[in-house]
Amino acid sequence: MNFKVNFSEPVPKMIDRLKREHAQLLPELSKVEKVCGSDMNQAVKLLRSLKQVILRHAIEEEARVMRVIMEKAKSDSAASIKIMQEHRWVSEFFERRLDKLPKEAPEKAQEEAEKFIRDLRQHFREEEQVVFPLALKTLPV
Ligand SMILES: [Fe+2]
Ligand SMILES: [Fe+2]
Repeated sequence: MNFKVNFSEPVPKMIDRLKREHAQLLPELSKVEKVCGSDMNQAVKLLRSLKQVILRHAIEEEARVMRVIMEKAKSDSAASIKIMQEHRWVSEFFERRLDKLPKEAPEKAQEEAEKFIRDLRQHFREEEQVVFPLALKTLPV
């Protein structure tokens, strides 16, 4: 999937927007969580509708936020790199697992969808606690 990254948006503004996107995604993820025990097709449909937003969001984090960290705070970057590497299981889930869930045993599919949502929430938290503050610290006030 190809996205154009907007390099003219200032990083602090972008971080505000990325946080806003986290806040907007959380209730959507809760909706998925609510239906995935009873209607996996609906859960998959909802997740499919979030795919573009979530993958573009991840690419922006890597191309803009992580880039300033690697340029200006490389010695403090280890934890942030680890968090950015989590984008791998995010995109794998969307590209390889999501469409297969309705064909899995219902409990297994439910468990997988719930785990993805839990892990994604945790990922958002880690970014807000570790990655975003470090990127902001590197910028002139
Ligand atoms: Fe992320
Ligand atoms: Fe994020």
